[in-house]
Amino acid sequence: MFRLNKLTDYATVVMTLLASEPQRLCGAPEIAERARLEPPTVAKLLKMLARAGLLESVRGAHGGYRLAREPDEISVADILVAIDGPFAMTECSMHPGQCSHESHCQVRGNWRKIGYAIETALRAVTLTDMVAPAQGWTPKVTVERAQPMPRVVMETNA
Ligand code: FES
Repeated sequence: MFRLNKLTDYATVVMTLLASEPQRLCGAPEIAERARLEPPTVAKLLKMLARAGLLESVRGAHGGYRLAREPDEISVADILVAIDGPFAMTECSMHPGQCSHESHCQVRGNWRKIGYAIETALRAVTLTDMVAPAQGWTPKVTVERAQPMPRVVMETNA
């Protein structure tokens, strides 16, 4: 089963919280309290998200963190990559030459296609979508089997 690790999920929580008031600077202790997460975890996430260019930090007594771009310009995929690195469904599909089966493997290329399809779907969901309540939302996802890569069309909050 595909599943995000907790740290990555918490990163989406923190980013969605900041997206609810995108212009306001928010200190790490306030973020931890509002998100009900442990302060050291939040501090670690804020550093990783800022290093990835998704947050800007302002130092000083009235400093804090805020989104580096508008909420509709930051996707869930951006957050996942910031915490977990580049998308890859298998170790083998990520870097060539890492697997002893590669020369006779028939599925490596297809795992790259699958990873691309999932990344494309996650790029279609932005923080604007994450801030909106999900109640009543019905997923409308179509995958067009175009060559050489499948194309994912995802409608959100329609
Ligand atoms: S490349 Fe490693 S199993 Fe396919």
